[in-house]
Amino acid sequence: MKTILVLNGPNLNLLGKRQPHIYGHETLEDVERLCSAACADGFGVRLLQSNHEGQIVDWIHEARETTCGIAINAGAFTHTSVAILDALHAYEPPVIEVHVSQVHRREAFRHHSYISQRADGVIAGFGLEGYVAAIRRICQLASDKG
Ligand code: DQA
Repeated sequence: MKTILVLNGPNLNLLGKRQPHIYGHETLEDVERLCSAACADGFGVRLLQSNHEGQIVDWIHEARETTCGIAINAGAFTHTSVAILDALHAYEPPVIEVHVSQVHRREAFRHHSYISQRADGVIAGFGLEGYVAAIRRICQLASDKG
């Protein structure tokens, strides 16, 4: 079984509760359920969330040996974290960046992403469907590699 890491940054533990007019009513448990269902045969997901930048960096390091791709919603760290970008540069398999909201229609500080400089694909504004698309794409890219 190949494992895809679904990595979530700060405040995403409150998905479904915070600013539902922006992020909707569905929760991280819903994300996990949808991602598992979206996996191709032979793939599974591991979903992690942290509010701490260093923890996310550590998980990306660990993922180098144990996973075949990362779907990452780094939350606000998307717009600030060179450390997460550097960790992703040290990670070889596919990386897809996900945002629940359409960040480009929001405040200007959300328009720049450090993650995008490494990501193989970027999805924003599709709600939880963005995670599903990311999983499908990673399965495809990881299968192409054999
Ligand atoms: C987000 C967008 C970010 O700008 C924000 O800081 C988040 C969530 C999204 O999923 O739309 O926490 O990544």
